Amino acid sequence: MAKPAVLVTRRMPSAALAQLESVCDVDLHTGSDDLSHGALCARLSGKQGLLCVFTDRIDAAAVAAGNELRVIATVAVGFDNIDIEAATARRIVVTNTPNVLTGATAELTWGLILTVARRIGEGERVIRRGAWTGWTFDFMLGTELRGKQLGIIGAGRIGRAVAAVAPAFGMRAVFSTRATTGDAVTQAETGDDLLPLDQLLLSSDVVSVHLPLTSETRHLIDRRALARMKRTAFLINTSRGPVVDEAALVWALEERLIAGAGLDVYEREPLVDERLLSLENVCLLPHLGSATRDTRTSMAELAVRNIVAVLGGHPAVTPVRP
Ligand code: DGY
Repeated sequence: MAKPAVLVTRRMPSAALAQLESVCDVDLHTGSDDLSHGALCARLSGKQGLLCVFTDRIDAAAVAAGNELRVIATVAVGFDNIDIEAATARRIVVTNTPNVLTGATAELTWGLILTVARRIGEGERVIRRGAWTGWTFDFMLGTELRGKQLGIIGAGRIGRAVAAVAPAFGMRAVFSTRATTGDAVTQAETGDDLLPLDQLLLSSDVVSVHLPLTSETRHLIDRRALARMKRTAFLINTSRGPVVDEAALVWALEERLIAGAGLDVYEREPLVDERLLSLENVCLLPHLGSATRDTRTSMAELAVRNIVAVLGGHPAVTPVRP
């Protein structure tokens, strides 16, 4: 019997690819550039499986081009790049890679919190440009985390993993779930305080966003939300760029309505608003949340397990739950 055909849009760790190749015919895009949307659609024809990443636009046209598709496995936890409705209408199973990247993303979130609160990026830049003239008593004073409140927007796996570290820094974590309206997570489940979004924004010293991008969460952090934050507070975003209105964030930073921001994600990646580049109180990372060797390997392996399961007639390991 012929092996099912699978399009893989990126080079993946060799163990994961070998596992896929043992049961599927793999069409691997080896170029260092992203596959164009047109090329992606053309190569999807006749494929039963697609292994993609979050920068691949799997819209209705791509779903239609995959005339034999049975499974779309994205190597990411976020799946806002996939038209789930179009896939579901065609009974295509869509899977993501939750859990395996929780620890790495939570670590990076803490990296951003510490960097902006203790001015680590700024300090490093001073040294690199040879501008440090020696220790002085009041040089580059930052914000101590101990005794402060960490407001986490989104009480999913990553938000909770970030909260779990808070006591180590003497911080108290509070949560606001999906706009603190629709989400079903209860206070008992978070084990911490659940606040309405406005109250969390008003009372937190660090606000960290951990929400998927949906039509409800797009620009959830807008001018109004930013204006509610303390002038001494920091905003951290390691989720999806468009959850924060980037123009509003620039405004809040320039007007000094908040103390700083740590960003790993942007509205129009890889473009970053130029005005952010000149602000010293902002740490900018190039979407590194899950970027460790261990985690990326685990993500690829999980995506492969999903494809192999579905094409083998079994339930997916981690189907998305929109
Ligand atoms: C995700 O998993 O959604 C990240 O943004 C990419 O690793």
